[in-house]
Amino acid sequence: MTSLKGKIITVVGSGLIGRSWAMVFLSGGYKVKIYDNEPGQASGAITEIRKQLEELQQAKMLRGNLTAAQQLSLLSSHDDLQQALEGAFFVQECVFEDLEAKQTVFHEVENLVTESVILSSSTSCLMPSNVFSCVQNRTRCIISHPVNPPYYVRLVELVPHPETVPAVMDVAYSLMTEVGQAPVRLSKEIDGFALNRVQYAIIAESWRLVQDGVISVKDIDLVMSEGLGMRYAFIGPIETMHLNAPEGMEDYLQRYSEGMKRVLNTFGPVPDFSGEPAARIVKEICELIPAEQEHLTVRRERRDHLLMELAKLKK
Ligand code: NAI
Repeated sequence: MTSLKGKIITVVGSGLIGRSWAMVFLSGGYKVKIYDNEPGQASGAITEIRKQLEELQQAKMLRGNLTAAQQLSLLSSHDDLQQALEGAFFVQECVFEDLEAKQTVFHEVENLVTESVILSSSTSCLMPSNVFSCVQNRTRCIISHPVNPPYYVRLVELVPHPETVPAVMDVAYSLMTEVGQAPVRLSKEIDGFALNRVQYAIIAESWRLVQDGVISVKDIDLVMSEGLGMRYAFIGPIETMHLNAPEGMEDYLQRYSEGMKRVLNTFGPVPDFSGEPAARIVKEICELIPAEQEHLTVRRERRDHLLMELAKLKK
């Protein structure tokens, strides 16, 4: 597929994810037009992106081959949607996680662009068939679900609408690869996509173990960060199985499938995430990390710094 560089991408919504997408696309040399319906928000996003790009350059963590100044020269902010969409081949929507807001945005966008423009949503848990229900031509609709923060965590889940044509998946896949993300394709829509289904399975069992008094909050988090997470940053669960038996996957299944089924059959029901167990778990995590902004900010900065170092290592 030919390079799409030099082309224009419009980012609709300039919050956390809109700003991150803008930085990712800029790093790949795309022109990015950022729009927000809150007056002044999009221009404020440019100030924030400038600050971040300059810091990344100083830390030698800037992505792509262009300098921070060169990337910034490709970026513009708009308070007018029509102006923001002019010339775009790809629209990445990043407004609040609110179905009606997204439906309205895509309805408006469709009326302002030509048939060939790809309409992509960042939604984390809304189904494509709902998000794009007000769009007439749904063959060009797709969900490109990033993981926060997308600048360091490269995965993008590409989820088609039932009417999406394969060529649109292919363009989105090429675009994401070209800007240095790691796209994965889902063949059909499913609630939670892949990442959140796996994440929720982990959250549910962690919750049950703490709720049932088997392990503390501190220790279940260590099970991930010092155990499973160590390898999962580099290999997935299926490769883990393949490598964990001398003769590979078939050997693993022979040795461990009975044990896996036995343990899996002891899993409890979906937790309520409320009442006394929730109060206890909230108390326990807040004793470790108080919920005041100053403490949360320190931990978020630590997370982002470590993710940056991990991203370097994975390179
Ligand atoms: P945010 O609240 O930081 O930003 C939303 C932005 O959209 C705001 O600047 C707001 O003014 C703007 N906006 C709202 N309605 C608009 C409209 N009609 N037209 C133009 N702009 C509008 O939200 P955030 O976190 O950036 O999330 C955006 C999307 O990305 C959501 O769908 C969310 O589920 C998804 N997402 C978020 C992740 C996260 O960790 N924050 C991770 C992956 C996806």
